[in-house]
Amino acid sequence: MSQDKTPLFSGLLAHTEKNPIQFHIPGHKKGKGMDEAFRQFIGDNALSIDLINIEPLDDLHHPQGIIKEAQDLAAEAFGADYTFFSVQGTSGAIMTMVMSVCHPGDKIIVPRNVHKSVTTAIIFSGATPIFIHPELDEQLGISHGITPEAVNRALEAHPDAKGVLVINPTYFGIAADLSKIVEVAHAYDVPVLVDEAHGVHIHFHDELPLSAMQAEADLAATSVHKLGGSMTQSSVLNLKEGLVSHERVQAVLSMLTTTSTSYLLLASLDTARRQLAVKGKAMIDQTIILAERTRKAINQLPGLYCVGKEILGSDATFDYDPTKLIISVKELGLTGYDVEVWLRRNYNLEVELSDLYNILCLITPGDSIEETDVLVHALRELASSRPVLKANEEIKVKVPEIPLLSLSPREAFYSETEVVALDEGIGRISAESLMIYPPGIPIFIPGEIITKENVAYIQENLEAGLPVQGPEDESLETIRVIKEHRAFK
Ligand SMILES: Cc1ncc(COP(=O)(O)O)c(C=O)c1O
Repeated sequence: MSQDKTPLFSGLLAHTEKNPIQFHIPGHKKGKGMDEAFRQFIGDNALSIDLINIEPLDDLHHPQGIIKEAQDLAAEAFGADYTFFSVQGTSGAIMTMVMSVCHPGDKIIVPRNVHKSVTTAIIFSGATPIFIHPELDEQLGISHGITPEAVNRALEAHPDAKGVLVINPTYFGIAADLSKIVEVAHAYDVPVLVDEAHGVHIHFHDELPLSAMQAEADLAATSVHKLGGSMTQSSVLNLKEGLVSHERVQAVLSMLTTTSTSYLLLASLDTARRQLAVKGKAMIDQTIILAERTRKAINQLPGLYCVGKEILGSDATFDYDPTKLIISVKELGLTGYDVEVWLRRNYNLEVELSDLYNILCLITPGDSIEETDVLVHALRELASSRPVLKANEEIKVKVPEIPLLSLSPREAFYSETEVVALDEGIGRISAESLMIYPPGIPIFIPGEIITKENVAYIQENLEAGLPVQGPEDESLETIRVIKEHRAFK
């Protein structure tokens, strides 16, 4: 079948054109039974395809009709053997990847700065994480990916690992040498699971980093909704079969998926795939041109630096995505948060993210020169009102040693816990995850033994005003630990 076709979306339209009398859910029945203001706003077209898995519309849990055809077309477009649609976001796809390869007690090699869906999957599956520290960037104060050498060292020590998880590209658009990582892992017959949340588009343009499927990875959780034009929450899981079976992946995905799958989300995946496959290259051509023009303009402003290809060359910065604008603001003597707030207040402009040193702006096919000119204009006004500080000041991004894992995160999650003063937590097992941002790498995850060095590190960072994420007690005077039971005398 041709990539021009959208079997799922077209099937839905054909069904609604027949205008069947609906004695099934959803009870709003094409919007007629719905709050009028919301109905008017959202529109009858959208509501007419807000349907459920009645027979003509196939079933995401056992696809055999229009959903299967749409998934097969997506697999062809992504260079996968199988593509599974997810209506549980990329988080659902990531949990499926980990739970498809790990049984309780199995080891999985993961970067320390994983998204929380990976930690959740580790807790659900009962796996034991073997962590790799991501590379740190002292200029930007951010973390990049993991290197093939680090993966090799981890596999030498743990050849029985059941998977290697890689974040590629990172949120900031930096890619590792994924082909090499896959080669290293496959030499041990270990599958590579890629968190491709920030890289759906890279498959469709040869100036962008290699996609997971191009690099021969086994599984990839790919956020079509983030940068591929589908609706928020829709995502795909791509599989190259060999080390992982598609039956297992389908079974796990189904376990984690609602039985009321949204056809709006599914249809948006079908049509986003068509757009990417048919027009993706041409659209991304324009996006890259627009991003490069914007990057160049920002780099002419005093005190601002928009990262470009000069970042490449280290072991962890093998390639990058130029459509992401990482803008370092540290030489203006402002934090990224300050700039985010300033842009919101003064220019009604929202960035993707900010941290202590940077803001991140994403350029996509949805942008035009009008929008990027506002960004440049706003930054010019801001930069011209600030004295420029000393250039090339290195940022001290320190990462403490990874503590010993004493209980699996799952055991820790289900243990009895208690709250103690932070200092008293030394030597105890943490029941919480805790990280300092930047660089956004956890200091503890549940199950790890709290050390004196780690507590000192937390205090040092708190005094420096860095934000701490994760603890129940945000002031961090206390921490939740696993309860110890002493013998009675
Ligand atoms: C690196 C990374 N992985 C996974 C996810 C989860 O994606 P989703 O929000 O689609 O569940 C995110 C979300 O921001 C992310 O940044």
